[in-house]
Amino acid sequence: MTENRTRTVRLQVNGERHEVNLEPRKSLADALREDCGLTGTHLGCEHGVCGTCTVLVDGKPVRGCLIFAVQAEGRSVRTVEGLTGDNNKLHPVQQAFTEHHGLQCGFCTPGFVVLAASYLEENPRPTEDELREVLSSNLCRCTGYQNILDAVMSAAKVMDGDQATIATPANEPSGTSTTG
Ligand code: FES
Ligand code: FES
Repeated sequence: MTENRTRTVRLQVNGERHEVNLEPRKSLADALREDCGLTGTHLGCEHGVCGTCTVLVDGKPVRGCLIFAVQAEGRSVRTVEGLTGDNNKLHPVQQAFTEHHGLQCGFCTPGFVVLAASYLEENPRPTEDELREVLSSNLCRCTGYQNILDAVMSAAKVMDGDQATIATPANEPSGTSTTG
C-alpha cells in the first residue's frame, strides 16, 4: 500500500482562498504555480539566490523557493498577479516597467516588480542609492539593470504623487501584517 504523503493546506493568495493537497516539502513557489494556477511567479535558481520567485507573505518579500507552502498557511500571500488593480489596471511599478523598457526576456520581472512594489509602499521617497541596494537582491540574466532602476525610480514618483498603494483585493482587509 502506498503511503499518502500529501496534506491539505489552505492558502490565502491575492485575497482568494485556495485549498490544495500537496506534499509538506513542496515550496510555496511550486504550490502557487502548480496547485493555485498562478504562474506569474517564476522559478530560477531554486535555492534562494536570484529572487525571481519573490512573493509577499504578510506584506514582506520572501523567496518563494525557500519557504514551504505549509509555512504560508494562515498567512496572507500576494503574487505579481495580485498587484494588478480593478479592471486590470497595472500597478504603477508594472506600468513603469512597460514605459522604461524594464524587461527584456521578462523572466526575472515578476520578482523585481513584487520586490519594488512592496518597498515603495513602505518607503515612498527612496533615494537612488537605496533603490540600488534593494534591487541588488535580485538577478537579471539579461542584465538590464539600469532600465529596471529607471522604472522603479519613475514608479516611486508616481506613487508618491498619487498616493497609490498596492492594490488590495476587495475581500481582503487593507493593511497586511508586518510580521515576518
Ligand atoms: Fe528562488 Fe532563485 S528561484 S531565489
Ligand atoms: Fe531577462 Fe531579466 S529580463 S532575466
